[in-house]
Amino acid sequence: MHANGEVTQRERDFPALLQRLRPECERIIGRYENSRSALLPIMHLFQEHEGFVSHEAMRAAAQMLNLTPAVVESTVSFYTLFFRKPVGKYVLQVCRGLSCTINGAEEIMAYVREKLGIGHLQTTEDGLFSYEEVECLAACDRATCMQVNLEFVYDLTPQVIDEMIETMRAGAYAVKPMAQTQAPGRTWTVAQDTQVSHGSKSAGASGVSNPNNAGGVGDASGVIMLDRFVNKDISFTGRTQERFARDASAVRQAVEE
Ligand code: FES
Repeated sequence: MHANGEVTQRERDFPALLQRLRPECERIIGRYENSRSALLPIMHLFQEHEGFVSHEAMRAAAQMLNLTPAVVESTVSFYTLFFRKPVGKYVLQVCRGLSCTINGAEEIMAYVREKLGIGHLQTTEDGLFSYEEVECLAACDRATCMQVNLEFVYDLTPQVIDEMIETMRAGAYAVKPMAQTQAPGRTWTVAQDTQVSHGSKSAGASGVSNPNNAGGVGDASGVIMLDRFVNKDISFTGRTQERFARDASAVRQAVEE
């Protein structure tokens, strides 16, 4: 809803979207012994269509999964994988974990900030880019790295960043832009997140109690996140698939254990 109380077009469109996505949500729920496990994939599904996880989507998920809205919101707010307010068409999340820092993440982050003219958790005025510095993305073997709209980009250098941003500006980047069903503000932070959104949210997995632990290959608590990729529950393409194809046997073993 606008500050002036007007209902937005996105909110008007939500009931139709929910109707369209409900069969897919039911299919996802059917895959899990405990329906609660479907929460993250369902939130990803709505984010894919709305460009962020709206209040309406969280309420709908709570109803479908018989959870309280507070449980849904606290889960969604835990991860840097979910945006609770509209973001730019390209969300650049640079890793500032230990391996990446040793390999020059500080310089890469400074370069991206300078290039885009924005800082941590900010969106450019034209709504094209959002930028965030995140904890370990569980791709330390390819540090320094980042995610663009949740797709991995590895071995970052200023040249890689230059080419990436140029291609995005030209509308020709390989990763699909985020859906933008509502214009983004200058930041997507939520007031009550002030503590957690400045460095202690997890990029990772379900059930990880330490927000600085992103989970990952070999970490059983990362299974639900890995499960998404392995089963192509939501279609990930390009570099992310490339890495998971390379690590396929280790990933499958982790999922099966
Ligand atoms: S420290 Fe960057 S991916 Fe692990």
